[in-house]
Amino acid sequence: METIASAAKQVPLYAGLPFIGNTLAFFRNPLKTLLILQRQQHRMVHLRIGGRHQYLVFSPEDSKHILQENHRNYGRSLAFQVLKIFLGNGLLTSDGDFWRRQRRLAQPAFHRQKLAALTQTMIAETADWLDELKQRNRQQPVNVSQAFMDVTMRIVCKTLFGSEVATQLDGLSSALDTLNYMANDRLLSPIRVPLNWPTPGNRRFRQAGALVDTFVYDLINQRRKNLDTGVDSGDDLLGMLLSTEDEETGERMSDQQLRDECVTLFSAGHETTAVSMAWTLHLLSQNPDVLTRLRSESKAILGDARLPSPEAFRALTYTMQVVQESLRLYPPAWIMSRLALGDDHIGPYTIPAGSAALVCPYLLHRDPASWSDPDRFNPDRFEPGGEKDQLHAYAYLPFGGGPRLCIGNQFALMEMQILLAMLVRDFDIQAVPDQHIIPRPLITLRPSRPIQIILR
Ligand code: HEM
Repeated sequence: METIASAAKQVPLYAGLPFIGNTLAFFRNPLKTLLILQRQQHRMVHLRIGGRHQYLVFSPEDSKHILQENHRNYGRSLAFQVLKIFLGNGLLTSDGDFWRRQRRLAQPAFHRQKLAALTQTMIAETADWLDELKQRNRQQPVNVSQAFMDVTMRIVCKTLFGSEVATQLDGLSSALDTLNYMANDRLLSPIRVPLNWPTPGNRRFRQAGALVDTFVYDLINQRRKNLDTGVDSGDDLLGMLLSTEDEETGERMSDQQLRDECVTLFSAGHETTAVSMAWTLHLLSQNPDVLTRLRSESKAILGDARLPSPEAFRALTYTMQVVQESLRLYPPAWIMSRLALGDDHIGPYTIPAGSAALVCPYLLHRDPASWSDPDRFNPDRFEPGGEKDQLHAYAYLPFGGGPRLCIGNQFALMEMQILLAMLVRDFDIQAVPDQHIIPRPLITLRPSRPIQIILR
């Protein structure tokens, strides 16, 4: 570690190797590298990854400064440009005034009362999925990483597009999935073949894109016709987005904006939740006491109804604590990056314009300066008035913070609570012996291999 004198370079530089800087260390084991840096107790460090200058902050206070207090100095980093080829200019990828307007338009669809209308769909989809799991050979372990991907995909498609999606669900979800994965691959790959080259991958990408666009635009046309003839626009997310008007200008979203937001919500709204559910089962399979307490809560409150009432889930307080603790240890959005638009001064340091600022929930959530015994799975931390309530608000950031806070956070928490409570009520969970699972930080924090669980 060396310290350089000029103002912008005062930040301790984690130099790495000549020319490639820290790229190799990050490529090999990013989490280990980050934890080592955290232990050195600098306020921030300067890294060079992939030829770019990146400034990683460690404290909740500095994370809040970047995400909230000085958020106007920061824009979407380059990574989001790559995602635009699939997501278009939706909430996740857009910036500035355009983003602000879209956020204003989309926000009402995610208010608590509106989400209540979607709970029924989540419960019904979960019940169907559990029925399917019960048909399986119970001796065989279940690849829960894949199983949760399937059910969260179904939930997001149904809550976005409503019943119209039923007959086309498989084709649509696999096309959306193809786009999602190819955009993610492109983001992580050092070589990006131009999209107009006639490669098999590009052909698949275009076919999937055409299928999704045809479906979404047809649906929008149909719904607009319904609206013109006085028929309700529907209480799924698309219906809500179609009918909301900008409070300031009275404008509604164009077809293109609706398409981009639908694809964004699909993409942002299922993999994160699925990955987090798989981690939760992994943790439960290793913590039988927590599982027992969780199960007795869900049996007591949900009873044995195939479709418990949406109100019942509000009483599942321990279930929610388990979900929150799992998101602490394995936050799917493990790091967030921002492009500094102008120089930013934090204490004695400067983050120069044009570089990236990094905020890392994975480190914040395991910082011994905030959390006692941080690597231990202990849902009691989230009891009202418990450890979490004593900490700085930015010590726990699974959904980010500031104006770009995840718009789907309540949606995700509700969905995870429903999936978890109904699953543990109906199944026992056992780990498959000798599975060595460690976190692998891709775009989301995935397990190093698919998590297999014996569900009885
Ligand atoms: C466990 C599940 C989830 C996690 C951990 C998560 C995490 C996050 C985080 C950390 C951000 C902020 C990224 C940043 O500041 O750079 C974000 C943004 C976003 N999330 Fe989520 N998310 C989850 C589920 C969902 C769901 C279910 C939806 C939609 C139904 C959703 C939609 C979005 C959107 C649209 C944004 C961009 C918001 C904006 O910039 O205005 N997310 N998410």
